[in-house]
Amino acid sequence: MKSKYKVVAMANGAHGIAKDPEQGTVFIENACPGDELEAEIYDQRKGFAFASITDLTQASDLRETDAPCKIHKICGSCQWQHIKYDEQLNFKKQNLLDLMQQNNIETSFEIPNLIGMSKPWNYRNKVIYPVEIVQETGRVKAGYFRRNSNELINIKYCPIQYTLFDEVMMGLKELMDTRGYPNKLIRHIMLRSNSDNTELLISMIVRKEKLNKEFKNKIKSDLRKIQEEYKQIKTTSINYNDLSTNVILGDETEIISGEGFITESLGDIKLELSSTSFFQVNTEQFLKVIDLIKKHIKPGDRILDLYCGIGTISLSLAKSITDLKLHGVEVVAAAIVNAKRNAELNGIANTEFIEAKVEDWDEIPEHDAVIVNPPRKGCTNKVLDKLAETPKVIYVSCNPATLTRDIKYLEQFGFKLSYLQPVDMFPHSFHFENLAVLER
Ligand SMILES: C[S@@+](CC[C@H](N)C(=O)[O-])C[C@H]1O[C@@H](n2cnc3c(N)ncnc32)[C@H](O)[C@@H]1O
Repeated sequence: MKSKYKVVAMANGAHGIAKDPEQGTVFIENACPGDELEAEIYDQRKGFAFASITDLTQASDLRETDAPCKIHKICGSCQWQHIKYDEQLNFKKQNLLDLMQQNNIETSFEIPNLIGMSKPWNYRNKVIYPVEIVQETGRVKAGYFRRNSNELINIKYCPIQYTLFDEVMMGLKELMDTRGYPNKLIRHIMLRSNSDNTELLISMIVRKEKLNKEFKNKIKSDLRKIQEEYKQIKTTSINYNDLSTNVILGDETEIISGEGFITESLGDIKLELSSTSFFQVNTEQFLKVIDLIKKHIKPGDRILDLYCGIGTISLSLAKSITDLKLHGVEVVAAAIVNAKRNAELNGIANTEFIEAKVEDWDEIPEHDAVIVNPPRKGCTNKVLDKLAETPKVIYVSCNPATLTRDIKYLEQFGFKLSYLQPVDMFPHSFHFENLAVLER
């Protein structure tokens, strides 16, 4: 059924929102607030529906008419490239305000605008493309999936990642085209680079059960050839993953060339990054988040850094604020090895990194503040309960929905939100980062 709609807001997701007295809230793909359009409902639920545009009668002034990516409306990677960048920032802020209101969180200060990027392109420092071999031609397809589908798009150019990735990926695909690789042997190709693009790593994620000597030699040879072509490639590896889940990386990595890591400079620190290390994808913007965290820490503070990954936050603080005592907790053993190595690399002795699930970590030392930086699902109540007696919580979150839920939960322990700053780490998607501080 087709109907006419006026788009009034952006959802905290991919869709524009229109209101309809009969269908309720209508979520429309590729719509922009201010649009007047005709759309067809393809999924009607109780009180809401999903629709796609059949005719854009009057395009909103807030639309970006010159988006660099020609396939952004179908690609599953960016959802908001059709909206002017400054307006994306406004809609993200509105989503944050709405979530604050839904969770009944009051503040004595006004929520600031997002800290955006002056050039919101070519920011992603890592790309992981799924791979398919086209049956008819034997050629390699690698890119992102078409939105709401499992059809892989062969991507040649992606304006949100480092430009070097397009070139290297293209070169690698050309080498692999003629090799007769069977489908489903190579699952993904990963590229990661430091921010000045002087060091790059490649990892091929393969199914070990499908790998024989011949194909392994071919993969090694392709990696060697691409490395000869691009001197920036410092290390290559094969990661083995036989699981039939959507977890991308397996537990075993075989280094094919180099030392298995690249070196990144992040403000005052140097970090060794391997293919399996967690590292924030937007280095420029994460550095801004770290600078904001520093403003909430005093010399001599005793800090717990929960979900510390490879120690990025702890090490940055330790390097620039005197006499801190830091404990980092992280569940991935390899990340703890990286964190300890990175502490050594930077001559930092006042950090201790502990391999544990935050939920199960009970030997909590006395401290002045806790930094939490959980994955998108936020903290479990078991973790939040551990913070009941903490003087200060500094919460770094990539998901405003779980952040606001967790802030509300923490309020029962007498905390009040004293600071909240949204930062745009993911331009052209609906995602963004937040730094929240809770005090008593
Ligand atoms: C968003 S990342 C943050 C990493 C780090 N703070 C950084 O900025 O690079 C979340 C980290 O939490 C870790 N993690 C996830 N669940 C965990 C848990 N239950 N206990 C400890 N660490 C966990 C992940 O392995 C990942 O390194």
